[in-house]
Amino acid sequence: MNKRKVLVAGASGYLGRYVVKEFAERGYAVRALVRNREKLASKGANLEPAVLDLVEEIIIGDATEPASMKDACKGIDIVFSCMGLTKPQQGVTSEQVDHLGNKALLDDALAHGVGKFIYISVFNADKMIEVEMVSAHERFVDDLKASGIDYAVIRPTAFFSDMGMFFNMARSGHMFLFGDGANRFNPIHGADLAKVCVDAAENEKRDIDVGGPEIFTYDETNLMAFEALGKNPWITHVPLWVGDAVLFVTGLINKPLQSVLGFALSVSRIDNVAPATGKRKLADFFREMGASVK
Ligand SMILES: NC(=O)c1ccc[n+]([C@@H]2O[C@H](COP(=O)([O-])OP(=O)(O)OC[C@H]3O[C@@H](n4cnc5c(N)ncnc54)[C@H](OP(=O)(O)O)[C@@H]3O)[C@@H](O)[C@H]2O)c1
Repeated sequence: MNKRKVLVAGASGYLGRYVVKEFAERGYAVRALVRNREKLASKGANLEPAVLDLVEEIIIGDATEPASMKDACKGIDIVFSCMGLTKPQQGVTSEQVDHLGNKALLDDALAHGVGKFIYISVFNADKMIEVEMVSAHERFVDDLKASGIDYAVIRPTAFFSDMGMFFNMARSGHMFLFGDGANRFNPIHGADLAKVCVDAAENEKRDIDVGGPEIFTYDETNLMAFEALGKNPWITHVPLWVGDAVLFVTGLINKPLQSVLGFALSVSRIDNVAPATGKRKLADFFREMGASVK
């Protein structure tokens, strides 16, 4: 029997690698769409796996240059995209990558008769729609829903890779946190989320909110990071009004940084607890991160 073919856009990122692995382990033929093939060959900064040996084909493309992705979907049954702008890149906007880059991929998928398009947006997007990164995701979701293609939109809470960022701050000895650290969320490991993503290729669910199995406050996760490193906790809570002022000034001089900062500030204002799934624990992740830097 012919294997079903899936295109994974964003395959070099934290979630993308776990999704490649999960599709490959379930017997799909994976084509990866990436900017840099070399990245697939080595493990990522937050322990995400190397996946070069798991992909059957690689397409080099950039979301900001739609022509580079032309025919990426040729012969493909399912597109999965977690191609997104998560770190500031000078001169590049969320609109270009999250909305228009994915729209170009969708147009290509429609041109080649792809059966289903699975997309990653953000949990609580409706509560943070004023954030440019979030609204760019949802502008693409509107296009996806209007296109007529079968689709699934997955809206996860924070990934363990974001917890890796806190871990690295704890390593430096001093952590800065927007807000009082008391709001609650349930972060999710990439491997647990990847199962939900690949299940979405095989079920009929269309809008999927998802988080990890444990609920913490931000302060609790940060104390856990210090504990895993055997360091005394030193956390400075930056009041939200100071964050707002920093965001305003940043917007005048560095728009890409403002977009990422705006997202961090927005998630610090609300609880982000989504329906729980998975089994991987944050304390184990911090322990593994600790072992990897010894
Ligand atoms: N991290 C979270 O906590 C979280 C929570 C909810 C939703 N999300 C969303 O989930 C998605 C994946 O997140 P992640 O944490 O896995 O992000 P990530 O590790 O930064 O991966 C993003 C992927 O998109 C690719 N990409 C970025 N700009 C591109 C461009 N111009 N052209 C082509 N590819 C491009 C990256 O390629 P390179 O490797 O070349 O940079 C990478 O493969 C994002 O859309 C994010 O907004 C994230």
